[in-house]
Amino acid sequence: MDRKLERLLVTGGCGFIGSAFIRRLLQGSVFAGKIVNIDKLTYAGNVENVEGLVDSSRYQFVHGDILDAAEVRRVCRDFAIDTIVHFAAESHVDRSIDGPLVFIDTNVVGTARLLEVVREMPSIHFHHVSTDEVFGSLGPVGAFSETTAYDPRSPYSASKAASDHLVRAYAHTFGLSVTISNCSNNYGPYQFPEKLIPLMILNMLERKALPIYGDGGQIRDWLHVDDHVDAIWSILWSGKAGETYNVGGNSERTNLQLIDLLMGIVSRETGAVPAELEGLKTFVRDRPGHDRRYAIDASKLQRELKFGPKHHLIDGLTETVRWYLSNPRWIERVRSGAYREWLDRNYASRATHESV
Ligand code: NAD
Ligand code: DAU
Repeated sequence: MDRKLERLLVTGGCGFIGSAFIRRLLQGSVFAGKIVNIDKLTYAGNVENVEGLVDSSRYQFVHGDILDAAEVRRVCRDFAIDTIVHFAAESHVDRSIDGPLVFIDTNVVGTARLLEVVREMPSIHFHHVSTDEVFGSLGPVGAFSETTAYDPRSPYSASKAASDHLVRAYAHTFGLSVTISNCSNNYGPYQFPEKLIPLMILNMLERKALPIYGDGGQIRDWLHVDDHVDAIWSILWSGKAGETYNVGGNSERTNLQLIDLLMGIVSRETGAVPAELEGLKTFVRDRPGHDRRYAIDASKLQRELKFGPKHHLIDGLTETVRWYLSNPRWIERVRSGAYREWLDRNYASRATHESV
């Protein structure tokens, strides 16, 4: 593919996956260019996921909102951006049930505003990071392919589905260069402890209850975040404009199986008594509209771009548990709200703290 990949605008690069993308590109050898990261720093954005961890001469942080098209336009012009990699979103299903509208603003309107900027600057390639949740919920067999009909069932997945449709519609109508990836559940370091895996690890370490929604029989396909990042990089390099690629981990587990795996790892790594961890399991009220099973058919990515995940689930989970064990400062700063100090320093008069 003849794509220029020298000046990237990453949206939401202080979040879990966006920050992994930036660290991997700026710490590794595959990319020699520069990255501008525009992030609003919602509760999920943490400047410390990138700051001090990458070469600052190739990295620029812009505190900004993707809804602010004028600011995005300015950034694209000032930094001569050739590619946008769009991660910014409200990403937590439970929060979309408590308050759907911010998901519509950020995920739908925010994506549309970015597309409007690209419409004005059509030399920019736009990669949209999306989710397998747009396809709905599966029975015990089968897997989502790129041609599976959309059937989103939560405000979060509906907002992501709408954004996917907008990306395709803008590409079709205005001739924009776009690619889309629909990925399964990610895990790894720096994940905000509201999502299943970090929440379970931290609760195990602190001997707190492990809240299991419903019967715990829901199935997710787990993928290490670095494999997701590598898949996106591979799509950016050689994915065909206009195409969608599903990304999965070939690691389907029920939530109960996953929690059992984590308990085994935490027990091995810390010496915790297995029976004590087992006793923390607590079945709680199910998530309303809870999708039962997701599974990904990632054969297109394998066939066309020769990409497959490298991490085995047990190794990836072990590495993740070790990361949380070795980074008490990151955990403490997220838990206490100290990770929001950047906002205090830069906007002393209008800083607000949101509790974790
Ligand atoms: P995250 O919640 O950890 O991070 C989201 C980031 O976006 C935060 O840094 C936040 O501050 C920023 N942001 C939110 N609203 C913004 C706005 N209006 N303007 C600028 N920045 C804004 O999310 P994540 O888990 O890293 O997910 C990243 C993307 O990947 C999302 O689009 C999500 O839908 C998708 N995805 C996530 C997973 C997963 O398992 N986490 C799987 C598949 C796809
Ligand atoms: O499939 C991709 C999606 O994966 C992404 O698009 C989302 O951004 C990401 O948040 C994730 O969504 P899930 O809802 O699958 O992830 P979560 O970690 O919230 O939950 C995973 C499973 O664990 C789900 O079946 C709900 C269950 N769960 C979750 C939490 C937080 C529990 O049983 N207890 C919990 O406390």
